[in-house]
Amino acid sequence: MTTELEQTVRKLATLKPQVKGGLDQAGALQLPESTKVRFEKYGVDYARGYPEIPVTEKIPIFVDEAEQFRNELFEVDDRGKYADPEKKALFGAAKEVKHLTKHIGTEIVGLQLSELNDKQKDELALLIAERVVVYFRDQDLDPRKQLELGKYFGPVEIHPQAPRVPVGEGGISVIWMDLAKSKGLDLSFKRGGGTAHWHTDLTHELQPPGITHLHNDAIPDVGGDTVWVSGYAAFDKLSPSLQKFLEGKKATYRSLHTYLDRENPLKGRKPVVREHPIIRTHPVTGWKSLFINRAYTTGIVGLEAEESKVILEYLFSVFEKNLDIQVRFNWKPSKKGLGTSALWDNRISQHYAVWDHEGLEPRHGTRVSTLAEVPYLDPNSKSQRESLGLSLD
Ligand code: SIN
Repeated sequence: MTTELEQTVRKLATLKPQVKGGLDQAGALQLPESTKVRFEKYGVDYARGYPEIPVTEKIPIFVDEAEQFRNELFEVDDRGKYADPEKKALFGAAKEVKHLTKHIGTEIVGLQLSELNDKQKDELALLIAERVVVYFRDQDLDPRKQLELGKYFGPVEIHPQAPRVPVGEGGISVIWMDLAKSKGLDLSFKRGGGTAHWHTDLTHELQPPGITHLHNDAIPDVGGDTVWVSGYAAFDKLSPSLQKFLEGKKATYRSLHTYLDRENPLKGRKPVVREHPIIRTHPVTGWKSLFINRAYTTGIVGLEAEESKVILEYLFSVFEKNLDIQVRFNWKPSKKGLGTSALWDNRISQHYAVWDHEGLEPRHGTRVSTLAEVPYLDPNSKSQRESLGLSLD
């Protein structure tokens, strides 16, 4: 493609759609009051346009550009490896530690994430690796502190396209479905979408995220829950024969965003696709996890398309139908004016944001994700139940 043609395609691809609503039309969508209070307290300048949209020239347009984005390996060192297995510093300082279900989800009461010391942060990383998702209500959290905590866990993901909080170089994504809806996302009572479906974040990345921290600072009075499900437990639900069949196999994972073919831009848009092991080992717990999700896993490498479809459909259903390995969390803080944080491990979970509030009350959050290792299977690793000495039946 000539440079001139490439520039024209780039210009066309980055034109902002002229849709109704959104913050560009004054008054069409207001930042929730509780978010404004948080941002004003912590000096986040939202008045000059919110959220910040990344600089257009840096957004990948062509598939090859998107493939090159974060395509170099980097070292990660999981903080959970350095934790006291008994987590005395974290649990000792908490008012209460509540396991919300047997297999997934723990709430820590009486601690501010912004005040944790390094020992407590390491123990939190281990707790997330074991319990899959950990909650903290009533948080008074500066978005910069949220970013700092993410960076403590490892390299933070800076999304090239996603709307972000206007702080520094990026790294704090905005989770605000009202904005997506105002920009044209078809979300209704009949049609969920956006984050209202089973998914795991960014599984197409070379090194997909480990710990993700979502802090919701605007929460509906009723509803707006999120459901998480454990990949460890999903693996333990399978028969030994199916486990063996899947071990060592890879699947393909597609990106949410799609891109143009440089040689043939009119051919239609394509996602970035990468391969990862279907069964992966968590580097801290050493437990095996079933690493697939309905949104982004597109096939099993080496199988016929029809075989792959049938097997994946069954594997998706293991996550989606087994309520005993899920946790449904309501984000409401006990004190008005404060927010709630959830920290989960994407390596070992899927999640689903329930859209029952239908956007009639504001729901707004800021999210920081820490990138993790290249997914791998250690053939000597065990399942969670095997390792804990629980019945495999
Ligand atoms: C997400 O899918 O990352 C957001 C979940 C939520 O909004 O609860």
